[in-house]
Amino acid sequence: MASRNNAAAGGGGTASPILGGAAGGGGVSRRAGALWRLLVAIAILLVVGETVMLLRVDLLGNARSALRFTERRISGSRDRCEDWLEDQDRVSTLRDFDKDPVRVDFSETQGTDNCAVRCQFGVITMATRKRVDAVFGLSADEGVARVARTMESSQYYSEFELNTARSHGYTVIMTTSLKSDVPVGYFSWAEYDLMAPVQEKTEKSLAAAFISNCGGHNFRLEAITKLQGYGVAVDSYGSCLTNVHPAVEKVDALRHYKFSLAFENSNEEDYVTEKFWQSLEAGSVPVVIGAPNIQNFAPSPNSILYLKSIKDVQAVAKQMKYLARNATAYNETLRWKFEGPTDSFKALIDMAAVHSSCRLCIHVATAIHQKQEQEAFRSRNASRPCKCSVGSTTTFHLYVRERGRFHLESIFLRSDNLSVAALEAAIISKFSSKNHVPIWNAARPEMLKAKGPLKVHRVYPVGLTQREALFSWQFTDEDLVNHIDANPCAKLEVIFV
Ligand SMILES: *[C@@H]1O[C@H](CO)[C@@H](O)[C@H](O)[C@H]1NC(C)=O
Ligand SMILES: *[C@@H]1O[C@H](CO)[C@@H](O)[C@H](O)[C@H]1NC(C)=O
Ligand SMILES: *[C@@H]1O[C@H](CO)[C@@H](O)[C@H](O)[C@H]1NC(C)=O
Ligand SMILES: *[C@@H]1O[C@H](CO)[C@@H](O)[C@H](O)[C@H]1NC(C)=O
Repeated sequence: MASRNNAAAGGGGTASPILGGAAGGGGVSRRAGALWRLLVAIAILLVVGETVMLLRVDLLGNARSALRFTERRISGSRDRCEDWLEDQDRVSTLRDFDKDPVRVDFSETQGTDNCAVRCQFGVITMATRKRVDAVFGLSADEGVARVARTMESSQYYSEFELNTARSHGYTVIMTTSLKSDVPVGYFSWAEYDLMAPVQEKTEKSLAAAFISNCGGHNFRLEAITKLQGYGVAVDSYGSCLTNVHPAVEKVDALRHYKFSLAFENSNEEDYVTEKFWQSLEAGSVPVVIGAPNIQNFAPSPNSILYLKSIKDVQAVAKQMKYLARNATAYNETLRWKFEGPTDSFKALIDMAAVHSSCRLCIHVATAIHQKQEQEAFRSRNASRPCKCSVGSTTTFHLYVRERGRFHLESIFLRSDNLSVAALEAAIISKFSSKNHVPIWNAARPEMLKAKGPLKVHRVYPVGLTQREALFSWQFTDEDLVNHIDANPCAKLEVIFV
């Protein structure tokens, strides 16, 4: 603080009318008032002809003192606030994961190379057990994350339903649900060559089906029979309703069918398995029974057909037959293969550019830092300033990181332009200045790699689920103001597309 006061003496300028309002700002002590008058006197003595600005720093927390001092109006005055905030808001006691990596007690070791936070998976011996940060299962000490992970539908494995799993004591849940803490999907750019070129549709039958579990919690077998009844020829390769027998590679076979019956064994939100992704890879239009929110997974509007219930079979059969007759209309359903999928689709698949084990480590590390920050300031009975005022303009300090990374960058917003547009501009400016390459760039197929400047798809508070982040969250200018107000030094995550 002292060095800032010195800046006033070194500066000089004309006392401006705003100095008259010395009592403003609340909680100014008598001593501060005296200091204030002294500084004004010095400032007047050092008149050079520049306007004196008031740099008012509100220190929050118990002390509630407000220091005031004059500062020369210089072009760098805003950066001064930014430098000061960068320094004051820093928490120096955070665990350094480079030296002390996140440790997860689990036999798997995949997926943690090149993770944005250093991370060790492996079976951890009793001797080192106290240093474990996360355990798969429930047998963990207090403060250790208890992880539940499955890729099965919770309709078959109800203990993995989010609320059930939490009530059993799991603290980090990894399922196909995009509401889970660390979603594990069937999809990724690496797993499926989603942009593989469309092949000629040479098969006589309109659709192919590969279904081998003839039970199932839905109406999928009945739907096949009904489609056939409405005149849609279906080649059924699996072990249910089998009518063709050649041993074929599934995706290769699908490439030559106009439609693929991507019928899941249960209809659960976000439960979208290889049946769907293989159809997209093959360029065979998926006819879906499964996730009620399957349109969130579509590569573009009108690129898939959906059977919500058995009652929809007739209409969908009619649509399939129409598309089969009209080559132009059919080709439009595959337009995304030529022109690229929607940003929403890219943002979804990009999530998996970072392995779920790494995302688990980022999740655990984020929670550890969050706790350490709270403890650091609780023990000092203070809080970070997170904002700084020069004259009537306040600069707010926020932190932003790209989804899939751990390190947070500082960005600053000003009270005279507290808008979503300004937030996005600040993010682009910050990340561009660091020549940031989006984390998904290496994973995406060639035609979808980053070409132009960075583009923001979503910005949302760290800790939001991916379901909210991708499909429902949208800051309005008013939300942003409220959020910054309620969350000093707010931490945000950005998805670039
Ligand atoms: C075929 O589809 C195109 C594109 O949707 C449409 O403009 C055209 O009218 C259709 N033709 C027939 C014969 O239905
Ligand atoms: C389908 O449309 C793409 C452009 O969207 C075009 O390049 C391609 O030739 C079309 N294919 C057929 C069979 O019409
Ligand atoms: C912090 O504040 C609490 C209550 O406001 C008080 O009980 C405690 O003694 C204070 N701790 C320190 C270190 O000042
Ligand atoms: C606020 O910031 C945005 C993004 O930088 C900019 O386009 C807009 O002109 C600014 N508005 C004002 C009033 O400064």
